[in-house]
Amino acid sequence: MVNNDVLVDKHYGFGGIMEKIEVGLNLAGKNIDSLTVNDLAPVDAFHTRGRESTLEVAELANLNKSDLVLDVGCGLGGTARYLAEQYECNVIGIDLTKEYVSVGTKLTELVGLSNMIKLCHGSALEIPFEDGIFDIVWTEHVQMNIADKKRFYSEIARVLKPGGRLLFHDIFRGMGDSPFYPAPWAEDESISALVTEKEARSTIEQVGLEIDQWIVKVEESIDFFERVSAQIEDHGPPPIGIHLLMGNNAKDKLNNYVCNLSENRVSVALGIAVKSNV
Ligand SMILES: C[S@@+](CC[C@H](N)C(=O)[O-])C[C@H]1O[C@@H](n2cnc3c(N)ncnc32)[C@H](O)[C@@H]1O
Repeated sequence: MVNNDVLVDKHYGFGGIMEKIEVGLNLAGKNIDSLTVNDLAPVDAFHTRGRESTLEVAELANLNKSDLVLDVGCGLGGTARYLAEQYECNVIGIDLTKEYVSVGTKLTELVGLSNMIKLCHGSALEIPFEDGIFDIVWTEHVQMNIADKKRFYSEIARVLKPGGRLLFHDIFRGMGDSPFYPAPWAEDESISALVTEKEARSTIEQVGLEIDQWIVKVEESIDFFERVSAQIEDHGPPPIGIHLLMGNNAKDKLNNYVCNLSENRVSVALGIAVKSNV
């Protein structure tokens, strides 16, 4: 593994995640032996607006059950389980963080979806699959940890079938001052590789993917965090949520992210791009 990969694995996979999730589920009154995909959504959709945004991304693609999906940087596999349950698709996920892959595999077993989902350890920069086999490549909140954007999007384009679709939801550098850290994806700038929306769009197009929709979601994201903060103010932090994945300074990371969005230090957008048919 190259140095950045080691740092990313350490940032996300700090140990004890399965235990934290089990404690949270217990406190939330969920029985681990009869878990549903929805029970896990508060913690396994580790991206802005959680499951709410997963649904919006999925709706862009008109998915059907014959689609083979690759989730690049799948984290705990929450999206894979949602797509397998909702659209009956087979989904493969790859992720650099070993602990996420093993916890995600366990969670998939617990909800009874192991026959449709395989999560593997691997790098987005060396996707361990042959050319042109996926109908859909999905990626949410991953490229901000990857400096080599050209290689990231080239690998995605390579494994897509002709006519295949890239679905994405990502954080970008805004036009304001430098972002505050720690942020959910990085303690400091060392593993943060933000580029502007314009730069990302240009790289996506350079690798032969045509952007069909690009939808900025900054306002919705700020509104979401305001709603969550109000709930925490009234009822305290929920027993199960993405704060379990962010270590002891989760509150600082989330507060900084909201400031970064509000002050245009970062932006967030989702969309779809299509590989040409030839
Ligand atoms: C914020 S989490 C998002 C996880 C998941 N996509 C989700 O939305 O729940 C970022 C993920 O990107 C993964 N990641 C970062 N760099 C990667 C790389 N080069 N190859 C594969 N995964 C990577 C991390 O291990 C982590 O699981």
